[in-house]
Amino acid sequence: MMEANEHSSGQKPLIEIRELTKSFGNNQVLCGFNLQLFPGENVVILGKSGSGKSVLIKCLIRLMEPDSGEITILGKSVIHLDQKTLDQVRTEVGFLFQGSALYDSMTVRENLRFPLRRHPERKRGQEEEELIHQTLRSVGLEDAIDLMPAELSGGMKRRVALARTLILRPKIILYDEPTTGLDPITSNEIIQLILQLQKELGTTSLIITHDMDCARVISNRVIILFDGINYAEGTYDELSRSQDPKVRAFFKDINERLHG
Ligand SMILES: Nc1ncnc2c1ncn2[C@@H]1O[C@H](COP(=O)(O)OP(=O)(O)O)[C@@H](O)[C@H]1O
Ligand SMILES: [Mg+2]
Repeated sequence: MMEANEHSSGQKPLIEIRELTKSFGNNQVLCGFNLQLFPGENVVILGKSGSGKSVLIKCLIRLMEPDSGEITILGKSVIHLDQKTLDQVRTEVGFLFQGSALYDSMTVRENLRFPLRRHPERKRGQEEEELIHQTLRSVGLEDAIDLMPAELSGGMKRRVALARTLILRPKIILYDEPTTGLDPITSNEIIQLILQLQKELGTTSLIITHDMDCARVISNRVIILFDGINYAEGTYDELSRSQDPKVRAFFKDINERLHG
């Protein structure tokens, strides 16, 4: 397996997680998880359902309090930050929730306006309306600006959610299961869109998924979350050829579940 820092000569990680632990009663979900995310990477964290992927990503931006460990984002230790600085760091970290989590009672325009009103300093000198249009255009949905979420297909909802994240131009985007609940064709469209925007905007991504197709297409590097730790790391191809019985079983399991 490759060490993360071999990939990025001399670059500092944008995110570093050290020995993260989190339990719920007797359920030890994270037992010393480590991760480094370097500029420009698309790192996929692959784990079975219930393995702690969402818990990990929530702890990362402190939507959930970890029990122990260190988390550094853009050079700041987020465990010890006051609320104000934490909010600042969070504006640099976009978060695409599992599902789309749009505000159902708001139009598409209002959904995109919401983060801008909370962080007016992120408008980059542009008019709000112009920025909303421009961002919707970048996900191919300018025509949907006046629609309600209930009027959108699953794929369109995911695009709006992506636009709502992108509108603040975060340096890092965290994706929790970006393709879950979508048919294969729509999944692929979303993956291609993520890759395209990534290139255009130069963001760095951490993608959490159990979707092997998503992991294969989107990742430069994969980390397998297993038994609460970063069990194995490498490119998708390296891991798929791994002789480690647990990694092999893991791939086999997931392929069986996906392809019958
Ligand atoms: N708020 C919570 N309270 C208690 N247990 C939780 C909570 N959130 C997650 N868990 C448990 O943590 C484990 C990992 O959950 P999760 O991170 O959602 O898995 P996934 O990898 O599917 O995203 C599961 O056993 C789940 O039941
Ligand atoms: Mg989850």
